Amino acid sequence: MSSRAAGWIRIVVVAAVLAALYALALHKHAERERLRDAPVALTADCRAKLEAYGLRAGGHYRSPYLQRTGVNPDARQGYREQDVRAIQRGCNLIDDLQGYQAKGGAPERWHASRFVRGTSTTCVHCHQSVGDKHDGEGRRIPGSNNLGASWVMADMYDRFTGLLLPHELRQMQCFINSSNGFKPNAADDVIRDITAYSRFLSGALGMKIGNRYPEQGIEEIPASATRRRGDDYVRGAHTYRERCAACHGLQALGNVVDGRTRYPALAGPESFSLDSRMNFTAVNTIMPGFICRNMPPGAEGSLDPQQCRDIAYYLSTLPRPAGDRQGPLAALWQQGMMIVMPPLTRYAETLGGRPQTHTQAHSSR
Ligand code: HEC
Ligand code: HEC
Repeated sequence: MSSRAAGWIRIVVVAAVLAALYALALHKHAERERLRDAPVALTADCRAKLEAYGLRAGGHYRSPYLQRTGVNPDARQGYREQDVRAIQRGCNLIDDLQGYQAKGGAPERWHASRFVRGTSTTCVHCHQSVGDKHDGEGRRIPGSNNLGASWVMADMYDRFTGLLLPHELRQMQCFINSSNGFKPNAADDVIRDITAYSRFLSGALGMKIGNRYPEQGIEEIPASATRRRGDDYVRGAHTYRERCAACHGLQALGNVVDGRTRYPALAGPESFSLDSRMNFTAVNTIMPGFICRNMPPGAEGSLDPQQCRDIAYYLSTLPRPAGDRQGPLAALWQQGMMIVMPPLTRYAETLGGRPQTHTQAHSSR
């Protein structure tokens, strides 16, 4: 065969490969469009939330919340059909990140399990009430990690990295560390839909872009807010057993029944990573703030600041996944500890003669 013919064959092969890749890209694109156009089966909490905020397609949008509270109740520009679907998908993602509620025959829709290592993490564990927590009288709550309040801050100075971070990048940080997962592309539909939902929340609540609202972030508890007895994880372990273990488990591994998370894991492979801002050794003010404000459910505010700091300290001593800053050795160590510690602790429990609570059971799907 002449070298000329070989040259032609090479060109044809390369062209064929490129054409196949192009066809594949077109196919993926069409598939994505089809998913974007598909009607969204909402989770129960999202249905309630979006209905309460009067989300529907139309030329004008009036927020029932603003009409009720009488603040700034003017009509805003309405949402198109595709906006409504994006907002619905975004809400579903926060409520049900891994798509559990869509499994078993429900119409296929977007979920983000491919961006998360565990099987039960979801954003709503920390961004409670689908990122929009209210008190008994329907008032917004300061320090409740509200996603609408987060969106209106647009670019926010992040004191931990020293960077100006847009909402999308702050979402990504939570994907990586708080959800122990991977970074979605900034333009991924997952990020765009969560942004659409967060923006909708801000409009429904009448929040103005560029402002900081007290609902943003978590109200923190620094050491100076306590009586300075010093943080103590042994004291924390005691309080944890008394006040938290019944739900989150003696080893804080959470409680998952039939693939549904009843109580999220606060340690172990299903939990946030060492680098998460929820982890006491990464940021020692946020987790105590979350605990004091939100836990235990039904008895919120019953712990004092020092107790919350002690518990958070204790939880940070339990094994959990390494973050993206620790390197392979630390990751290996953490993986090892997550395997070794639970049986060892259980064994120590039997020696101590303590009865095991059934809520400790952790079953994954
Ligand atoms: C383990 C708890 C936890 C989980 C799970 C979690 N987050 Fe967060 N999130 C936090 C904490 C803590 C902060 C920082 C709050 C602060 O700085 O006061 C935060 C901040 C954010 C912010 C920025 C808020 C702001 O006002 O700066 C966004 C956006 C966000 N999370 C989105 C998400 C998304 C999307 C998910 C699900 C993929 C998620 N989070 C899962 C705990 C969590
Ligand atoms: C009655 C059961 C119950 C008790 C008791 C309880 N929790 Fe929770 N906890 C939950 C539920 C449910 C969630 C998920 C968020 C939600 O639904 O509000 C949660 C979420 C959390 C989170 C955020 C989720 C995450 O992934 O980090 C932390 C931290 C937490 N609890 C700590 C505590 C601590 C500390 C105590 C003890 C002071 C406690 N909880 C007691 C039920 C409970």
